[in-house]
Amino acid sequence: MQTQHAMFFKPLQLTSLIAIITVALTSLTACGGSSGGAATSTATTSTTTATTTTTTPATAATVASALTLNLTSLSNYAAPTLPAYYDAAVTALDNTPAGNVVNNKTATLGRVLFYDKNLSFNNTVSCASCHQATAGFSDPARFSTGFAGGTFTTAHSMRLGNIRYYRPGSMFWDKRTASVELQVSQPIQNAIEMGFDATHGGIAALLPKLQAIGYYQELFTFAFGDANVTEARIQNALAQFERSMVSVNSAWDTGFASVFNPALPDQGRSLPVPGLTAQEDRGRALFMGGPGVGVGCAGCHVPPTFSLGANSLSNGLDAGETRIFKSPSLKSVAVSGAFMHDGRFSTLDQVVEFYNSGVQAGPALDPRLVAPGGAPRALNLTVADKAALVAFLKTLTDTTLATDAKFLTPFKP
Ligand code: HEC
Ligand code: HEC
Repeated sequence: MQTQHAMFFKPLQLTSLIAIITVALTSLTACGGSSGGAATSTATTSTTTATTTTTTPATAATVASALTLNLTSLSNYAAPTLPAYYDAAVTALDNTPAGNVVNNKTATLGRVLFYDKNLSFNNTVSCASCHQATAGFSDPARFSTGFAGGTFTTAHSMRLGNIRYYRPGSMFWDKRTASVELQVSQPIQNAIEMGFDATHGGIAALLPKLQAIGYYQELFTFAFGDANVTEARIQNALAQFERSMVSVNSAWDTGFASVFNPALPDQGRSLPVPGLTAQEDRGRALFMGGPGVGVGCAGCHVPPTFSLGANSLSNGLDAGETRIFKSPSLKSVAVSGAFMHDGRFSTLDQVVEFYNSGVQAGPALDPRLVAPGGAPRALNLTVADKAALVAFLKTLTDTTLATDAKFLTPFKP
């Protein structure tokens, strides 16, 4: 934990021991944070390989009997149709490593792993339990129930849409994990989430368990050429499935596509967006506009992906905050049930009121949220403008990501 968090201190030049202790005590524990001894594996690239390949199958179920997949006609994960405004500047953000480019076979395996409760110690939760399609691949609850039931994560689950458009080194709310691939092992090893922590044998105990399942023997062979289940293969397959969750369908997308103009300095982002109501478009103007025009949300939550810009610091939720947080893409934010890393807000009205009047001073506060005199910025928005911002955020709800069958469970009922 110390070494992982040390990287947050350097840019801020923190010297206060009290601050460091505070960080250690309040660090997030979900998805492999600080529980047990599992967290130390975050920064390593080493992976575990199953020690046996001859276990008697725990379940003989094969692809045909357990799953709705048709392996001769795969869904398209590798080459989604992207709008013109997903241009070179957006592509430059793509965190796909050269060694794990999305292909339909491996992403299909990733889909199965994502929905498989066998990934938890007692077969009670899958990734999808906490990352539900209808909630933008997040959890409608503020905190998620772990494998043991009755114990909960200490952070709110994160939406997964557009996760590929983040710079490396920014997985989890506090950016503690380097890549989508390395992130995969964290919830599996987490003592609250999926339970393969050190006391339950770690990932090494999961590998022979999956190795024994008939459909994985088929699917690992299909994706990788042989049936060996390794941690690296699980990481790669799940990362491919997650990276294929690109969000390009929303009321804002449809309208913006018709005014996008690469010849304009702002590509048309300041233009009215056809199809939005007057209130939604007023919210759009506020969100997109910089000082004097709007309230600068887009400077951090950057369109068209609405992922958080790599240069964003924290947004001042708590006075004296030293940690730098990320935000998941704001696409589909309105279908989330709770907002911010600890899910402290339950409505978007509360979120907007926070930016309007609640930003707190602290070492990690982004300068864009500091007023010229040095105090945290207040917006003093009218009631109508606050409502307009909320209305605009709702236009970012993706209309297909939650219903596209290729992202839904492949398991037969
Ligand atoms: C018990 C609930 C739970 C389970 C199960 C779970 N997650 Fe999560 N997930 C969370 C929470 C909570 C966070 C935020 C944790 C944090 O930042 O400390 C999170 C964060 C993430 C992130 C980081 C997103 C970002 O933008 O940085 C990814 C990716 C992710 N989970 C993928 C997965 C995958 C893949 C699985 C299955 C192997 C999984 N999760 C299983 C609750 C869960
Ligand atoms: C300085 C960069 C910055 C600016 C400007 C900014 N935000 Fe944020 N925003 C963040 C960060 C960082 C988070 C995550 C904070 C956390 O959970 O600790 C966040 C979180 C959010 C969330 C919650 C996301 C979730 O998944 O829970 C919403 C909604 C949001 N911001 C909307 C806005 C709006 C609307 C504006 C303009 C009024 C705005 N933001 C301006 C950085 C910024």
